[in-house]
Amino acid sequence: HKKVEKICCIGAGYVGGPTCAVIAAKNPHIQVTIVDLNADRIAAWNSDKLPIYEPGLDEVVRSCRGRNLFFSTDVDKAIIEADLIFVSVNTPTKTKGQGAGYAADLGYVESATRHIAKVAQGDKIVVEKSTVPCRTAQSMRFILEANARPGIHFDILSNPEFLAEGTAIADLTNPDRVLIGSLNTPAGRSAAASLADVYAGWVDRQQIITMNLWSSELSKLAANALLAQRISSINALSAICEATGADVDEVSYACGLDQRIGKRFLKASVGFGGSCFQKDILNLVYLSESLHLPEVAAYWRQVVEMNEYQKKRFLNRIISCLFNTLTGKKIAILGFAFKKDTGDTRESAAITLCKYLRQERANVSIYDPEVEERQIWMDLAEPGVQDERKELEKQFTIAPSALEACKGADAVVVCTEWDEFRNSKLDYKKVYAEMNKPAFIFDGRLILDQKELEEIGFHVEMIGRPRSNFQTPKDWE
Ligand code: NAD
Ligand code: UDX
Repeated sequence: HKKVEKICCIGAGYVGGPTCAVIAAKNPHIQVTIVDLNADRIAAWNSDKLPIYEPGLDEVVRSCRGRNLFFSTDVDKAIIEADLIFVSVNTPTKTKGQGAGYAADLGYVESATRHIAKVAQGDKIVVEKSTVPCRTAQSMRFILEANARPGIHFDILSNPEFLAEGTAIADLTNPDRVLIGSLNTPAGRSAAASLADVYAGWVDRQQIITMNLWSSELSKLAANALLAQRISSINALSAICEATGADVDEVSYACGLDQRIGKRFLKASVGFGGSCFQKDILNLVYLSESLHLPEVAAYWRQVVEMNEYQKKRFLNRIISCLFNTLTGKKIAILGFAFKKDTGDTRESAAITLCKYLRQERANVSIYDPEVEERQIWMDLAEPGVQDERKELEKQFTIAPSALEACKGADAVVVCTEWDEFRNSKLDYKKVYAEMNKPAFIFDGRLILDQKELEEIGFHVEMIGRPRSNFQTPKDWE
């Protein structure tokens, strides 16, 4: 099989950037060019302040940028030169038309594919890196073959990415597995072997697994659905814990010790966020419905519904603890990213919560160590509403520190599990001293030490633990 010498990656986002930077760092003999239509994004990749925050990414990029790693807006040139092309563009949920709200919008994949067909002057291996519905490779092949110059051959591979944000570099450096799907033909197998060689630059051969294209495509949706399903399962149990006096962390610990269940992805929370889980499950729901499997669709849809329920339940608890009204009260939101160690806010539970708080006419002060202010204002705005910023500013402020956000607040709400919000890192005595009383704290991430905070004087409400019974003084019982 052919040795890959030049790689092009279309899409310089959260996946394309880190993945191809690691490929370049581990394969100094391969030239890797990451291209994007978004010139600002490419400029940021070429600057000292990369467009995404990801621990360890700066070092990897710095080690090979300008050597065998390049970021460019010249898509044509990179395609023409490459032997292998990753398509790593966004595949968001469709907002209009057939399948709106469920199906993946494959417009970006299609336009990248057409671009390849239009400019390619020789044979290429085209790799689906984006998460796509089952059988997308077939559509790509149709488009490529219908538009290519005569005599040019394309092999299509599926190579889904399993990295999680916040740990992308560690996940890429040390993956549980690398998955490559190909047609079971000599050409397909040979293309898969070429891609396997790239990963073998640092991944153990036994962890590089190959299978048929459709299994590979579906495995990505399946893995995300199974992971999200665990979170919705533990969150469903957290509601039972709150009503019974059980503690969800203890239940999770007890269950997780069973090796058949395992410990990870059983942390109850205010709800999962991120650009993948909801999108990919809805995609699976749509696929199931298109295949006339309504029971299967309903089963997976419930994972997303449980997640919405969890966010709403958390809001209801805040309202009811704060004497059934939030109007004019100050709520401090600690953390806006969808998880710690990322500046990404896509589908973050904090956004949903802030939108609910807006309806309740609360005053909200938001602090996050990595999310940019501009991004927070964009996330708070309702799509299509003009000049909303002034309206938003009547209710929302963005604070420069956690302490500042909590000043004068009636309640502190932990939405993201950033380490700096832990008891050991944040001076909660000071937070308490500067809050309105009674001072409430709601932990949507189960990272706080409830007892210690209660000793300071806080009323503490934790997901998956029963409500504090402060409202019924002993002599009233
Ligand atoms: P992203 O939005 O951060 O990046 C996609 C980039 O592609 C954008 O910068 C966009 O400008 C560019 N683009 C779109 N069409 C283009 C075209 N025709 N030519 C050149 N550039 C084009 O998205 P992402 O988070 O990197 O996700 C990419 C894919 O990877 C999605 O399918 C996603 O589901 C999947 N994925 C994401 C993650 C994650 O953690 N974010 C993990 C695994 C898989
Ligand atoms: C996920 C998958 O983990 C990854 O394999 C895939 O490639 C992309 O989608 P990501 O969304 O980046 O990665 O982060 P992840 O760590 O999975 O967290 C997703 C959401 O679930 C976050 O909001 C996180 O806080 C939440 N979560 C995670 C929980 O609420 N509880 C848990 O136990 C784990």
